[in-house]
Amino acid sequence: MSKVAIVTGGTRGIGLAISQGLIADGYKVAAAYRSDEESAQKFRDLGGYAIQIDVSDFTSCQDGVTKIEEALGPVNVLVNNAGITRDGVLHKMEEDAWHAVIATNLTSCFSMSRAVVGGMRERGFGRIINISSINGEKGQFGQTNYAAAKAGILGFTKALALETATKGITVNAICPGYIETDMTSNIKPEILESIVKLIPAGRMGKPEEIASLVGFLASDKASFITGATLDANGGQYMA
Ligand code: CAA
Repeated sequence: MSKVAIVTGGTRGIGLAISQGLIADGYKVAAAYRSDEESAQKFRDLGGYAIQIDVSDFTSCQDGVTKIEEALGPVNVLVNNAGITRDGVLHKMEEDAWHAVIATNLTSCFSMSRAVVGGMRERGFGRIINISSINGEKGQFGQTNYAAAKAGILGFTKALALETATKGITVNAICPGYIETDMTSNIKPEILESIVKLIPAGRMGKPEEIASLVGFLASDKASFITGATLDANGGQYMA
């Protein structure tokens, strides 16, 4: 029987590539989206299962997971990928830009994991994969909110990995560098150009280059990897 995976933010960008990669690997995938009905419909038109969940809302996560389990079966893999940016220097940042980013990028990991981890413990198997960011490791000008959320994911990952290590559940984080998506295309061209110059590989990454790592971490081949932070950034880390 095929395994069930949830990918938050799973109908666009890196999340879409992750959903497609897991489908190709034989998973039944629930791609969660917040508001972009157009990309959700495209995903459904190709035969995928897309479900509206507001990952910043605890009850929406609980209800969403209940619906997914009714439709597809018990969840074996959770990919916490959904994320937003509200970039701006701290001295100009509105309170809302702080809370929105923390709620969507970090609190979502708690709420979604909380909704699936009980079942994973009962069944003795689970994979939780959290998408952090290079900017959670090194900081980034204009991203105190985003860097704090993404760094928070790393602590969350290590702590939950300790709690689940004897239960057949692994919990890992991936830190993508700059990847070709709508999120990075919103950066001012001259700023993006200066960032790309710092990537040793000389180019941005592709969503599929993150999806392949997710596929590996979800597989049985990665059964002894837990609490890890894996970088996929073209060599950029401390540049
Ligand atoms: N380091 C030091 N100083 C910098 C700087 C940097 N990286 N970038 C800008 N500055 C300076 C500018 O030179 C300028 O200095 P002066 O006031 O002395 O002239 C000052 O800071 C203001 O700069 P801006 O004009 O850029 O300020 P702004 O308010 O218009 O824009 C910003 C601020 C929106 C944060 C803009 O700098 C920006 O977009 N930065 C890029 C942020 C970024 O990388 N976001 C990543 C999004 S993608 C993502 O997050 C995915 C992932 O996980 C990797």
